[in-house]
Amino acid sequence: MAGFDKNFTDELRTRLSIVDVVSRRVPLVKKGQNYWGCCPFHNEKTPSFSVNEEKGFYHCFGCGEHGDIISFTMKSNNVDFRTAITELAAAAGLKLPDYKPKSAEQIAREESYFQLVNDAAQIYQKRLYDTDGAHALEYIRRRGFTDDMIKKYGIGYAPKNNIIANKFINVKQDSLIATGLCRRGDFGMYDFFRDKLMFPIFNAHGKIVAFSGRSLDGSEPKYINTTDTEQFHKRRTIFGFNFARDAIYRANRSIVVEGQIDAIQMQCNGFPETVAPLGTALTEDHISILCKANRNIVFCFDGDNAGQKAAARACDIVMPFLRDASDVRFAFVSGGKDPDEVLKTGGTAAMHKIIDSATPLVDFLWNLANAGFTVSTPNGRTQAEKFLKQKTDKISDITLRGEYEHEYNSRMFNNWHKWKKDKKSAPKIELPEIDAITQNTLIYITNQYPEIAEQYAEFLATLNIDLDGDAADMNLNKTAAEKYIVSLKLQKYLEKLHIQKKDLTAKLLAGDDVREEIEKIDADINDANERLEKLISM
Ligand code: UTP
Ligand code: MN
Repeated sequence: MAGFDKNFTDELRTRLSIVDVVSRRVPLVKKGQNYWGCCPFHNEKTPSFSVNEEKGFYHCFGCGEHGDIISFTMKSNNVDFRTAITELAAAAGLKLPDYKPKSAEQIAREESYFQLVNDAAQIYQKRLYDTDGAHALEYIRRRGFTDDMIKKYGIGYAPKNNIIANKFINVKQDSLIATGLCRRGDFGMYDFFRDKLMFPIFNAHGKIVAFSGRSLDGSEPKYINTTDTEQFHKRRTIFGFNFARDAIYRANRSIVVEGQIDAIQMQCNGFPETVAPLGTALTEDHISILCKANRNIVFCFDGDNAGQKAAARACDIVMPFLRDASDVRFAFVSGGKDPDEVLKTGGTAAMHKIIDSATPLVDFLWNLANAGFTVSTPNGRTQAEKFLKQKTDKISDITLRGEYEHEYNSRMFNNWHKWKKDKKSAPKIELPEIDAITQNTLIYITNQYPEIAEQYAEFLATLNIDLDGDAADMNLNKTAAEKYIVSLKLQKYLEKLHIQKKDLTAKLLAGDDVREEIEKIDADINDANERLEKLISM
């Protein structure tokens, strides 16, 4: 194995799903126990290439190719063993071990890293209970942290002065910099974290690798994290994962929240399976690590605009990881700005309500499409349809992808084209009814932006619908809301013109000379269509 530790290749095999690795290149369909696709190693039209997720190998009944994630990567990417391992390690969020056995020096360096970071954590923790940490202690207690919690999560205080730099001045300066604890300035070494509430960041094995420091005086940024080091990669680190691992297994799901304080409060208040990404951006690595632990995930985002955006992003990232057995849901916090606040004001019960009523991914995506585009117009529907297609295309399990497509096709027909069916049964020519989605959107706009409703009150009155009551939450800003109403108004106008044209055409057929009137209506229709198109493309 060319110098690679067998433990490491085993770790790769346990961390990475062969179905994920293969389906990045070959579309797979699940049939019975195995996944099937067309063999990438010989030319074929009917799938004889089978992949067994549990055992972690593939086998082609056509050409006899057989192997695991490593041989698959080597053969399909045409790379050597080392390169394949490097690629897989990156996908698994693992640091590549040294090619040669580690030198004594390297081992010592790694050990001194962990030692130094751990020493720093101890110092910070002690300082929290010193006089200069009094304001930090008061702060964290006010945030509902007990002494037990402070201890378990190793929370501490980094004072204003250069406590770490001063204390370890005799340690090699390189280590202070390599750990991200200190930086070198014009006047010597100084501490990276000063006057911060300190949250240690643990790796998956429970070792402290970095810190997240929260400002206490309201200064921005609110949080600073250790910049990436050899032992700490922000985009691959999941806050709270070391504590949540067993709980995720027992609960058969993980909950992902936005902030680290949220994650801690969740873990301590009935949701030990909760984790948070570091910083707001969720990465593919985060999801791949989580999915390897368990494919059932509840994303629980803040109820603000940023939370909506983060959810859409999470949805995007999670699509390729979906399996027939995954249950991915999206919950949005209400009754507080984040899970921490909800727990504080409404307790575990209030949080349970939010988690239990989380929207399944299939519905969440549908809602996104409906809220993001003007589905009452042909153009809007086209955009929404393309949006849905683009998302479902990311599902690597072909059967599952097909099911999603089928589901959305039937939803599109039943919801967006309902008027087509209704029209047939209506003998009189009437303006089509406002459908449920349009009605919901209008109620939402009326509640959210009353000034817009006011401005278009006259038009809204002609629709003859009840605008009181609650609407399902949508992601529509003010400009989009106004655009929505104006386009609806244009469509209604167009509908009226078409009815008039139909009447006139009937007259024409009956012998009346109404050609001029029809021409004028055609011009009006053209004009309205142009305005509508311009509006949509804006
Ligand atoms: P929030 O702004 O929602 O903070 O950012 P929060 O978790 O509610 O923080 P508290 O409750 O006021 O202490 C969510 C997450 O985004 C990251 C942090 O990981 C934070 O937990 N973040 C936020 C940063 O990395 N830097 C920042 O400046 C702000
Ligand atoms: Mn918060």
